[in-house]
Amino acid sequence: MTRGRFITFEGGEGCGKSTQVRRLAARLERAGVEAVLTREPGGTRLAELIRSLLKDEQDDPPCDRSELLLFLAARAQLVRNVIRPALDAGRWVLSDRFSDSTFAYQGYGRGLPIDFLRLANDFACDGLRPDRTILLDVPPETARERMRARERATSVAADRIERAGDGFHARLRAGFLEMAAREPERIVTIDASGTPGEVEARIASALGLDADVPSATEA
Ligand SMILES: Nc1ncnc2c1ncn2[C@@H]1O[C@H](COP(=O)(O)OP(=O)(O)OP(=O)(O)O)[C@@H](O)[C@H]1O
Ligand SMILES: [Mg+2]
Repeated sequence: MTRGRFITFEGGEGCGKSTQVRRLAARLERAGVEAVLTREPGGTRLAELIRSLLKDEQDDPPCDRSELLLFLAARAQLVRNVIRPALDAGRWVLSDRFSDSTFAYQGYGRGLPIDFLRLANDFACDGLRPDRTILLDVPPETARERMRARERATSVAADRIERAGDGFHARLRAGFLEMAAREPERIVTIDASGTPGEVEARIASALGLDADVPSATEA
């Protein structure tokens, strides 16, 4: 059995990751490829419990180090119980965020040492790395507008990490772009401005999926 492909989606809040993961899954399905979708943190029962702990707004929010360890605990569970078995069974896995979010948020954002993050993350993932990473890049104003539109549409307020401030979000974006420049064979930076359909087409082209898969009819 050939191993499936492991594709991760990265970028700051509101850049369109969840939208594009769903679109790529639908595109693959039209081509007869069934993909497993996961989101981080989460994707298993324990990892979803950890997700709710990380979003906890009470008076004892996780400090930077426990935040890191909670994210890695959730990832270890997801890799072992969901991602690795799916890849071994020859299926594709699309993950809404993965290791690069840890390097961007906890490293570039919070200032934890990157070398340690890489070691600890490799331990959590048991060495698993994505085959391809789609970095969705948008100017901060566009991300802010999309987040505002989503808050209006869903009446879900911004969470602790989303409210971290402009300086934090600027460091994140710079961090993601620096990682992409360092690993161009894995991380492909996609201009995520424009309509969802336009962004989807850019992603399909970057993954070499535009020729043989019919595109969706909606924008
Ligand atoms: N290309 C686009 N143009 C306009 N709006 C978009 C586009 N892509 C996504 N949106 C909308 O912007 C909002 C944010 O998109 P989405 O939830 O996919 O982003 P995300 O990267 O998953 O965000 P988060 O990091 O918070 O999970 C949603 O309301 C979505 O419908
Ligand atoms: Mg999302």
